[in-house]
Amino acid sequence: MKNNPSKFKQVLRRIASVIRSIRYRNQPERIVAMGYDEMAGDYGNWALRHERPDRDKYTKLLIDNVPKGAKLLELGCGPGDPTTKTLAQHYAVTANDISESCLELAKKNAPNAKFILSDMTALDFAGETFDAVVAYYAFHHIPRDRYEPLIKQINKWLRPGGIFMAALYPYDIEDLVTEDWHGSTMYWSSFDEEKTLQLISAPGFKIIEQSKESAIEDGKETTFLWVIAQKYS
Ligand SMILES: C[S@@+](CC[C@H](N)C(=O)[O-])C[C@H]1O[C@@H](n2cnc3c(N)ncnc32)[C@H](O)[C@@H]1O
Repeated sequence: MKNNPSKFKQVLRRIASVIRSIRYRNQPERIVAMGYDEMAGDYGNWALRHERPDRDKYTKLLIDNVPKGAKLLELGCGPGDPTTKTLAQHYAVTANDISESCLELAKKNAPNAKFILSDMTALDFAGETFDAVVAYYAFHHIPRDRYEPLIKQINKWLRPGGIFMAALYPYDIEDLVTEDWHGSTMYWSSFDEEKTLQLISAPGFKIIEQSKESAIEDGKETTFLWVIAQKYS
C-alpha cells in the first residue's frame, strides 16, 4: 500500500498473510492485534496525513452536544492522535485498544486519559458508567457475531440519555483477511447500512444522526457510516 514492493516481497507477504489467516482463523482478534502492533506508528502518521473531514465534523458535533467533563469511553482508540488527544481536552476519557503498540503511542498523545488494553468485545463496566461511548473507524475489525452483544453492552454502560457515536464500514463483508493494510495482514468484517442501523437501534437506542461520509484515502474513495444514537431515558 505505501511503497511499491518488489514482486518477491509481495509473494512473501502473501505467504505470511495466508499462514497467519489459517493459524488464527478462529481468533481474528489476534490477526488484528498483531497487525496494528506491527504498523502502529505508520498507521498513526498516515491517519494524521490523511485527515478525513468527517473525523473533525463529528468530533465537533460531539463536543457541541456532550458537556465538558463528561465520562467518555473510546473503543479502538489507535495511536490517539488526533482523536483521543482532542477528546481528552474536553472529557474524562477512558480509551481502549487491542494493540499494545497503539496504546503506547496513545499514552504519549493523550497523557491525561486512562487506557485499557483489551479486545473491546471483552470489556465490561457497571451499568450507567459513561455519558458517551465513541468508536472511530474500529468496528470493521470485529467479527460479525460480536456486533450485537457489543452494542448491547455499550447500551448498558451508558447512562439514560447517553450518546453512542461511531464511524462504521457500511459494507457486507464477512471474515475477510487482506495482506497489505499498511504492510500488515488485517481482518475485516461489517454489515451493510440497513443491518448496521438495525443492530444499533435494537438494544434501546434512538438514532439521532446518520450520514455516509466519503473521503479519498490513497487515491481511493472510502465511505464510512457515521451514527449518533441516544440511549432512551
Ligand atoms: C483503523 S484504526 C482506527 C484508530 C483510531 N480510532 C482512529 O480514529 O484513527 C482501528 C483501531 O481499532 C483497534 N481495534 C480493532 N479491533 C479491536 C478490538 N476488538 N478491540 C479493541 N480495539 C480494536 C485497532 O487496534 C486499531 O487501533
